[in-house]
Amino acid sequence: MALPPGSRALLSGCCVLLSAALAAGREAGCLDCHTAAADAPVHAVLRTVHGNLGEGRAQTCRACHGDSPAHAREPAGEAPEVSFGPRWRSGIEVRNGSCLACHQANGPLLSWQGSSHQREDLACDSCHTSHSQRDGALDEDTSSHLCGACHQPVRAQLRLPSRHPIAEGKTACSDCHNPHGGSGEADLYQVSVNDNCLSCHQDKRGPFLWEHAPVAEDCALCHRPHGSVHERLLSARGPALCQQCHAAAFHPSLPYGRGGLPGGAPNPNLLGKNCLNCHSQVHGSNHPSGARLTR
Ligand code: HEC
Ligand code: HEC
Ligand code: HEC
Ligand code: HEC
Ligand code: HEC
Ligand code: HEC
Ligand code: HEC
Ligand code: HEC
Ligand code: HEC
Ligand code: HEC
Repeated sequence: MALPPGSRALLSGCCVLLSAALAAGREAGCLDCHTAAADAPVHAVLRTVHGNLGEGRAQTCRACHGDSPAHAREPAGEAPEVSFGPRWRSGIEVRNGSCLACHQANGPLLSWQGSSHQREDLACDSCHTSHSQRDGALDEDTSSHLCGACHQPVRAQLRLPSRHPIAEGKTACSDCHNPHGGSGEADLYQVSVNDNCLSCHQDKRGPFLWEHAPVAEDCALCHRPHGSVHERLLSARGPALCQQCHAAAFHPSLPYGRGGLPGGAPNPNLLGKNCLNCHSQVHGSNHPSGARLTR
């Protein structure tokens, strides 16, 4: 049988400890074989929040990997009850079941069942590393890279000229999305897109004396949440953005020329080709005469 590198040392090292354990008249515990010397990285778990899950350190191992008496008797041939790999990786239900035994009823995992990631059979250990003192998923600097590795189209959007500063580390995917699922759209922490945006951009919340209907309805009617080729994360540029809905507006949609204006001056509607030149309060206005969102 071909053993992975390192496991021979582990096997021969553990024989000595094993005989010591047997001489002492007890069954070998996990740490008799998985010693710090043979298996240093594995011991890092003892210095994490999971370091003290039961009575004694071997109980800690069993909390996630199961009691595994067969494996402890015959480590070269028998798998532990729960393995996260590499050799005997258990099925997804078994691996996730191990973590959920403690985390099921926990706040952050309440919506795990039925979440996008649960439905796609992602494992807790696709994102979390339990034997590392720095769990990459919990580190704001690395967690977005983790997400981007699978979500290539979103990762591409993070490089567009206008974007949320995720690549810059000022926001993270998990500021907006709950990787364990959410009750609303796109597994957001909030129920609606607007609640999500307004949790940070509170000045857009209103209430406004003069509301702009689409703003109250859905910020994503005009903005792309991850990134856009148009400035301010807008979904379209200049008048085109507004004309998606105001095509029939009485004045501005028409391409005015210089004709008909005193002195033949260029029509101000065309300055920068932007409706915002006049309708600057596009998110709503509190000015007594702001009905047309011009002030
Ligand atoms: C008698 C020695 C011995 C004891 C006791 C022992 N192990 Fe192991 N364990 C090994 C060896 C050797 C390997 C490497 C096997 C291989 O890769 O061929 C191993 C591998 C593992 C793996 C990796 C599985 C995989 O799929 O790669 C896990 C997890 C594990 N042991 C957990 C435990 C737990 C938990 C306990 C206590 C309940 C325990 N072991 C007790 C010797 C032991
Ligand atoms: C919080 C749950 C948890 C606890 C507690 C735990 N493990 Fe693990 N173990 C994992 C996960 C998850 C992996 C997959 C690799 C990773 O996430 O770092 C793993 C991987 C392993 C491996 C394979 C390592 C490799 O990469 O080859 C061994 C061996 C192992 N654990 C042994 C142990 C022993 C011994 C203990 C007790 C000191 C223990 N584990 C405690 C969850 C746990
Ligand atoms: C025996 C119970 C138990 C098991 C099994 C268990 N955990 Fe935990 N876990 C805890 C406790 C207790 C804490 C610390 C208190 C808390 O944050 O709820 C914790 C905390 C965490 C944290 C937060 C860590 C931090 O630094 O804040 C993560 C992430 C986590 N567990 C992931 C996992 C994963 C992944 C697995 C399966 C491989 C797992 N847990 C298995 C009990 C468990
Ligand atoms: C898609 C990646 C991913 C998957 C899959 C995943 N997690 Fe997480 N988990 C994260 C991220 C990212 C965080 C940090 C969340 C944050 O910063 O708000 C986290 C945080 C946690 C925390 C700490 C929450 C807190 O607020 O203290 C626990 C506990 C946890 N995860 C357990 C699990 C368990 C159990 C599973 C499997 C059922 C799992 N996770 C699956 C990415 C993931
Ligand atoms: C191992 C691959 C993998 C990782 C890592 C991963 N995801 Fe996913 N995620 C998927 C798959 C597969 C789907 C379902 C298909 C889809 O919608 O793209 C999904 C779905 C989603 C959805 C729901 C999309 C929708 O249409 O409703 C969101 C939001 C999401 N992931 C965010 C994240 C975040 C945030 C992270 C990092 C914490 C992350 N993902 C890490 C694979 C992954
Ligand atoms: C500022 C908040 C925010 C951040 C940060 C964010 N998202 Fe989103 N994401 C959203 C919103 C809002 C939607 C829903 C879009 C819609 O309805 O048009 C969404 C949709 C998604 C979707 C499903 C639709 C699609 O575009 O594929 C995925 C997958 C996703 N996000 C992944 C990610 C990943 C991965 C990251 C980090 C690289 C991330 N998001 C960062 C707010 C955010
Ligand atoms: C977690 C907090 C957070 C959430 C939630 C959030 N944003 Fe942002 N947003 C930021 C930060 C930080 C910036 C950058 C501000 C800066 O650099 O001054 C920003 C910038 C912007 C900008 C200006 C971009 C530019 O080019 O100047 C727009 C537009 C924007 N966000 C729209 C949205 C929309 C729409 C949503 C909801 C889908 C949303 N934001 C959700 C934090 C957030
Ligand atoms: C009708 C289209 C439209 C809708 C809907 C919309 N916005 Fe905007 N938003 C714009 C335009 C146009 C700009 C650029 C304004 C400028 O450059 O002066 C902008 C700019 C921004 C900015 C950056 C500049 C600033 O004023 O801070 C933020 C942040 C922002 N919007 C957030 C939001 C949020 C949050 C929502 C939902 C509550 C939302 N927007 C809904 C059109 C819209
Ligand atoms: C998603 C559709 C949509 C988009 C995009 C949109 N609007 Fe609107 N707008 C509306 C609706 C709906 C109303 C309310 C109309 C009503 O009450 O008759 C409105 C009202 C207005 C009003 C006030 C009209 C009045 O009668 O008081 C102005 C001014 C306006 N929009 C300007 C803009 C500008 C400028 C843009 C581009 C930045 C824009 N709109 C983009 C849907 C949209
Ligand atoms: C030169 C300034 C200016 C520009 C540029 C401009 N508008 Fe206006 N718009 C106004 C004024 C002033 C009113 C109010 C007219 C009134 O009350 O009679 C108005 C009224 C409106 C109304 C309300 C119409 C109604 O039925 O009451 C809408 C909708 C509107 N504008 C949309 C737009 C859009 C879309 C653009 C860009 C394509 C645009 N405007 C460009 C000055 C401008």
